[in-house]
Amino acid sequence: MEKLYEEVIKEIELLIRDGYIKPGDKLPSIRTLSERFQCSINTIIKAYSEMEKAHRIYSVPKSGYFLVGGRQIEATTNDGIIDFSSAGPDKWNMPYREYQHCMNQAIELYKEDMFQYSEPLGLSALRFQLSKQLQELQVFAPVERIAVVSGSQQALDIFVSLPFPNDKTEICIEQPTHFSMIESILTRGINAIGIEVTAQGIDLDLLEHIFRERPIKFFYTVSRFQNPTGFSYSNKEKEKIVKLARKYDVYIIEDDYMGDLDTRKKADPMFAYDPSGRVLYTKSFSKVLLPGLRLGVAVLPEALLEPFTKAKFAADVHTPVITQGALEVYLQSGMYKAHIEGLRKIYKRKGSILNRSFRAHLPLGVTFTGANSGFYSTIQLPLKSKAEHLVNALKKKNILVQNATGMYLPRYKKENVIRLSVSQIEEKKIEEGIRRIGVEIDKHIRSAKKFSR
Ligand SMILES: Cc1ncc(COP(=O)(O)O)c(C=O)c1O
Repeated sequence: MEKLYEEVIKEIELLIRDGYIKPGDKLPSIRTLSERFQCSINTIIKAYSEMEKAHRIYSVPKSGYFLVGGRQIEATTNDGIIDFSSAGPDKWNMPYREYQHCMNQAIELYKEDMFQYSEPLGLSALRFQLSKQLQELQVFAPVERIAVVSGSQQALDIFVSLPFPNDKTEICIEQPTHFSMIESILTRGINAIGIEVTAQGIDLDLLEHIFRERPIKFFYTVSRFQNPTGFSYSNKEKEKIVKLARKYDVYIIEDDYMGDLDTRKKADPMFAYDPSGRVLYTKSFSKVLLPGLRLGVAVLPEALLEPFTKAKFAADVHTPVITQGALEVYLQSGMYKAHIEGLRKIYKRKGSILNRSFRAHLPLGVTFTGANSGFYSTIQLPLKSKAEHLVNALKKKNILVQNATGMYLPRYKKENVIRLSVSQIEEKKIEEGIRRIGVEIDKHIRSAKKFSR
């Protein structure tokens, strides 16, 4: 026989189905429902907590229960423009409203903390939630080694500037790579050695050679959904890289900015192959939540805790308490988990549409990387072609793509690569966009041939 709380759940589901409660709406209070169903308050609490466990609803302390999901804001679309250049997350699926509740909640919960300066490494309640959330990614680290940072870029920049326990001076980075990391290295005048990432990844023998021959302080790697190539390492490759790092006393900065979105159930981060401190792990909330929040997390080795804390304090004292508090509420309520599960499906679908479209519409001989990543991918034009010309020609046709030239260190610069991001493109527009890019590349190659005759 059905239990009373299960009947209550069914009734609530009917209200949702019939549109009386919409995503983001507040659900009736516990008292109202207990009067309506003529049952105890405990029965309603049980019904709500079961729905919460199933990530159907979320609770905001002292405020009530809300329905999860749905389009959060009406994102503006520029009519006719297909924008593959934007690096932001999928606008239509960001939990804007839910996060708004969390911000309000944080203002209430953390008002005392806002009258004074807070801890440089972050609110302890948030660090605790982060340590739990990181375990889902096979990152097991004590709360004391976890730092909240103002965007993962802040941690990367501090790592570039701090001396490391191995006393080495150079940095090894994938080429191409995340533009902000390049800026960080260049502005601090540090010598960096590049290693090329192709659709097949990196040459591990060359990596070993670099580790052996150069004074490498750390290897900076984006181990999944690499920006801009979309490349993800296999577990075997990650294990091998960690072994090499140990052998040659090189640290690894593992930028796992979108680790949450990996749908390969057994995929581990490099951190899992050496949690002792050899791998410094960072994760961002910019691609899965809102980049404007400037929230990231870093897992530090013991030996760097003190210098990192001082550098973080010197940079901005601490990350704003309200945004930290809101993330704590968001993680703790289970909303993050539900949101990520939704996003994984969306990015996976976008990845498979992109992959199909690349294969159908790019001219023969034009190569690409990361078609399945659902976020970033690149197209390589024939060697003598200039990406800049293609970018400008496409712009005239209302298609925006990014020239990847700035994603290389000057010494390794390539001028024939463009980066595409499908995150902010509606699924139905991806194929049409790629078709038009294919046509333009074809024209571009033909005219380059004409001039070279
Ligand atoms: C490889 C990589 N890491 C990290 C980030 C995000 O950095 P942040 O958390 O500072 O916004 C990005 C954003 O584009 C990125 O491409």
